[in-house]
Amino acid sequence: MPGTVEDVDVPSASDVLRRCRELVRPALVDAVGRLHPWTGEMAAYALGWSDTAGTPEPGGSEGKGVRQALALLGAEAVGADAACAVPGAVAVELVHTFSLLHDDVMDADALRRRRPAVWKAYGTGPAVLAGDALLARAVTGLAGTPGDHAAAAAVRRLCDALNDLVAGQAEDLRFEHRPWDGPGAVGPEEYRSMAEGKTGALLGCALALGAVLGGAPEPTVAALDRAGRHLGLAFQAVDDILGIWGDPATTGKPVHADLHRGKKTHPVLAALAGGSRAARELGTLLASARPTDAAAAERVASLVEEAGGRAATRGEARRHLDAARDALRATPLTRTAARELDVLFAGLADRVM
Ligand code: IPE
Ligand code: MG
Ligand code: MG
Repeated sequence: MPGTVEDVDVPSASDVLRRCRELVRPALVDAVGRLHPWTGEMAAYALGWSDTAGTPEPGGSEGKGVRQALALLGAEAVGADAACAVPGAVAVELVHTFSLLHDDVMDADALRRRRPAVWKAYGTGPAVLAGDALLARAVTGLAGTPGDHAAAAAVRRLCDALNDLVAGQAEDLRFEHRPWDGPGAVGPEEYRSMAEGKTGALLGCALALGAVLGGAPEPTVAALDRAGRHLGLAFQAVDDILGIWGDPATTGKPVHADLHRGKKTHPVLAALAGGSRAARELGTLLASARPTDAAAAERVASLVEEAGGRAATRGEARRHLDAARDALRATPLTRTAARELDVLFAGLADRVM
């Protein structure tokens, strides 16, 4: 309700993200500065800080910094100072950057944030190594958090999330080779587990790490993890929509790449489950060949839309956003941080709604 007295002091999602990026930035710069200069240069490129010549490119292709913000807000939400969550914020941001570097290699996507992906700019071997360097630095930095108990608990949480992320990526890749229908088809629960792993686990971990570093009790940490995982499922549903109908000028990523690769995305799975004439035609088309050229992908996209896949995926995003917000509301959290989290959650899922 814009304009009500209630909302006067609630910042926008982009204000929240900016404040958090500014708080984390010095520690993130320090972490990247500790890398080998070559991997550090690739990391700085991936983070949008510089171009391929190492020349600073302020603000060029920087990510939103969602995960670092969730870590800080997780701490504030349990009544702690955001500063205590900075090591967690750095760790999740480095892990996110690592996962994108490797993901673009796995998905053979040449474009990320409107620029050549790191593997396109530097080569596949170097990009894999830069990802490894970021991952190692993330764990090292978190292990150095003051307080043995907090550091151990935080590292365990990050590693649990990493295992889930890798499992989700494994399923995502394996699903490319599964049929669209029949006994080998990917079911809704399998899709959900894959998406929660590849995208939800790190978002849940970011919030949970903030709470762990802020000294929160386990039930609060678990509730924040659950909220972040639902947010991740909403986020992935939106990402799946943008992968079919998004504008590369806005998303900075290629369109139709998921269709070309036979990715089992929510809109296509939901469309096929519909049983309409368009769904049957879609099923026949996908069973005959992968849509490898632009015209075939366009045809698939319009059949998915006609069969209700886009609307069903919007509904999926909405349901998970609601579940994420419910998980927050059911947890005792400080008022200001809870409201900022709510604004941030809505802003992220609202990209297509
Ligand atoms: C990426 O999933 C998940 C991780 C990086 C772990 P996607 O492959 O669906 O995401 P985009 O569309 O390339 O960003
Ligand atoms: Mg990808
Ligand atoms: Mg992928």
